[in-house]
Amino acid sequence: MNTRYLHFNERDLALAGEMIRSGELVAFPTETVYGLGANALDECAVRKSYAVKGRPADNPLIVHVCDKSQIYDVASEVSSYAEKVIERVMPGPITIVLPKRALISDVVTAGLPSVAVRMPVSEEARSFLRAAATPVSAPSANLSGRPSPTTWQRVREDMDGRIAAVLCGAPCKVGIESTVLDLSRERPVVLRPGAVSAEFLSSLLGVEVTVLSDPTSKVNSPGVRYKHYSPKVPMVLELEGDVDKLAAYYDRKVAEGCNPVLWVRDAKRFGSRHTAFMGLTAEDAAANLYETMRSLETRYDFIIASFCPRRGGYDTPASQGVLDRLMRACGHNVI
Ligand code: TXA
Ligand code: MG
Repeated sequence: MNTRYLHFNERDLALAGEMIRSGELVAFPTETVYGLGANALDECAVRKSYAVKGRPADNPLIVHVCDKSQIYDVASEVSSYAEKVIERVMPGPITIVLPKRALISDVVTAGLPSVAVRMPVSEEARSFLRAAATPVSAPSANLSGRPSPTTWQRVREDMDGRIAAVLCGAPCKVGIESTVLDLSRERPVVLRPGAVSAEFLSSLLGVEVTVLSDPTSKVNSPGVRYKHYSPKVPMVLELEGDVDKLAAYYDRKVAEGCNPVLWVRDAKRFGSRHTAFMGLTAEDAAANLYETMRSLETRYDFIIASFCPRRGGYDTPASQGVLDRLMRACGHNVI
């Protein structure tokens, strides 16, 4: 298939919208990561997105909308918690899980009675969704198991020749996937941490919002069971910002014949060792996380990442999301 690379002008947006309505796949930017869009009301199109990604059929998709009224079209019940989140946090980098209506097929929800709904705030995403004029299911536009793409060039790496089109927009500002908040059960639970923190949601809803953190537990967010976001080379994670420990680990790897890199906040403390910058705040770290991962794996053969959630500027709202992605990327291999 010859993938078309489209831009944000009227003609290309209209074409992207037509492609979606005729059952094709179109990748598009959002503020979090690039998504692989399909008409959420067309089972055949939705099946294609699983096939193209190599995604397990039991991992449901998020339905993207550009208008609050569309949330009520796809969800059968909107609780008072959900109403508050819709009013105060949407559009934004958050996804809410609600009981689904029959028009949303089991292929989208992987057989679950609930549907995940997201309304992006990015103007580019919104103009695409308006052009599509239908709810759009969209997983991240990477091959299954790879870091999510935050630029159109990374989408091209994974998707060229496999999908009808890529809308070439700006790099994603947030950089990690949306917070997934399950509002289909009695108590709200964060199934996937993101830029909207559980603390913020707790104060908004006036109830403790817990974060489901055990990726091996059987819960109703099938996606969190899979090992995700892994670079092609081995990676370990250090959680204290202990310079001596990190330097010693690096030197040991060099002695073993490796070509390692330290991915840290404070590069100048590591002398002539190879370093990459983690960012000054958790938000900076999130914005560059996947891009750095994809770039380091081509230049080094071992990644030593350091992220101390309680120290050195990382005590900001995106902290839990960054930590979650780093933990998955290193397969929970903490040093
Ligand atoms: O930021 C994002 O959310 C991006 C952009 C493109 O919007 N999308 C994204 O999609 O990250 P994906 O498919 O990579 O992740 C969807 C997550 C998975 O963890 C999945 O299990 C969960 O949402 N999910 C979807 N439907 C669900 C449901 N009905 N109940 C519980 N979890 C659900
Ligand atoms: Mg994904």
